[in-house]
Amino acid sequence: MAKKSVLIIGNLAREHALGWKLKQSSKVGKIYFAPGNVGTGFIGKNTGIDALDIKSLIQFAKTHDIYLTVAGPDNALAAGVVDAFKKEKMKIFGPTKDAAQIESSKVFSKQLMKEEGIPTATFKKFTDASKAKKYVLKQGLPIVIKASGLALGKGVVIAKTMDEATNIIDDILVKKVFGNAGDEIIIEEFLEGKEISIHAFCDGKTVSMFPVGRDHKAIFEGNRGPNTGGMGTLAPVPGFDTAFLEEIKRTIVLPALNGMKKKGIIFTGCLYPGLILTKHGPKVLEFNSRFGDPEMESYMRILETDIFDILEACADGTLSQLEIKWKKQTACCIVLASDGYPGAYKKGEIINGLEKYDGKNNIVVFHFGTKIENETIVTNGGRVLGITATGKTLDETLDKAYSAIGPHGIHFTGMQYRKDIGRV
Ligand SMILES: Nc1ncnc2c1ncn2[C@@H]1O[C@H](COP(=O)(O)OP(=O)(O)O)[C@@H](O)[C@H]1O
Ligand SMILES: [Mg+2]
Repeated sequence: MAKKSVLIIGNLAREHALGWKLKQSSKVGKIYFAPGNVGTGFIGKNTGIDALDIKSLIQFAKTHDIYLTVAGPDNALAAGVVDAFKKEKMKIFGPTKDAAQIESSKVFSKQLMKEEGIPTATFKKFTDASKAKKYVLKQGLPIVIKASGLALGKGVVIAKTMDEATNIIDDILVKKVFGNAGDEIIIEEFLEGKEISIHAFCDGKTVSMFPVGRDHKAIFEGNRGPNTGGMGTLAPVPGFDTAFLEEIKRTIVLPALNGMKKKGIIFTGCLYPGLILTKHGPKVLEFNSRFGDPEMESYMRILETDIFDILEACADGTLSQLEIKWKKQTACCIVLASDGYPGAYKKGEIINGLEKYDGKNNIVVFHFGTKIENETIVTNGGRVLGITATGKTLDETLDKAYSAIGPHGIHFTGMQYRKDIGRV
């Protein structure tokens, strides 16, 4: 059988990890990335095409005999990249624009959860700032305020004072700091507990759950400080059995998919609810309509089944015919970030030690923001690299990953990373 060409849309370490896994498939030939990054350039070809330039993506797929396209970024899904490919009868993994609303509109998602009885924080939606403020006064603090639309992970504030609440309400609804993404806001109950990431492959009929993952979002150890795009992940998280996953599937994933079906929306791709484990049980913080980053960096290290087969089955609606297997191992990803991130940071620092871990010693390095300058790889973003390792135990896995970081391993000036990934 002739090998198939695949196009992966996106430029994060998530897409690098997906490409790394796809490259191991005997069925896959050429792998292209749009736009791609330095890391993806080592395993396939970067097209440089922007993830939102749907016309050029389709043109490229047609002229390069692309068999399957994988749509990664939330904004590309919300812009209708999947709808556009489907209209051209081209195979693509990911949800349509309507289905991606489960992530791109928190109002849509919260209403869906309410309709289907999916456990989540109690909430109210607002478009009017003064009504929103009155509601906060009545509810009390702390309280959570969220822009409804996509806001690059910056649209959520946990307000501990009335001043904070007032400021963020004005920022979103009056000053429009997130543009249209802030036309509506959700104000919701503050929940407490540890967070986990759930992922499910969906083909419109069948659902296949990933092992439970955990992303450490806060910049500092002990989960302190502002949230980031993710500072590290672990999968599977110890302590969750298959019965737990079945329960999450029954009470959260299937009701969400069925709720959308009632509205005439068939979700295919990866459904990724973020959960918080409260003393009253797991509750949904949000739904994402794509793979998590940096969760994927860990997941791809322990997925046994050929990812090409899975992606194709999700796109074709044949997932029931495929048994998806995960290795009996643990994987982690430690994110190396630039000094100052998630605030302002410097770029252009030389990254040392990469040559030591070119897939060796069970360490696989995935790239976020890097650049090649004078034949040297330098930092070029807030998050720079994801260092992944696998092992039989949690300790072995984490020790291995951390051993690759530092003066004797991978390092750069101003490098910051959390030393408690997988531990808290
Ligand atoms: N109701 C809530 N109670 C407590 N913390 C919350 C609540 N909602 C969100 N958070 C925190 O804010 C983070 C981001 O919220 P989320 O709804 O996932 O938005 P997004 O990922 O789109 O920025 C969550 O991972 C969680 O740490
Ligand atoms: Mg989130």
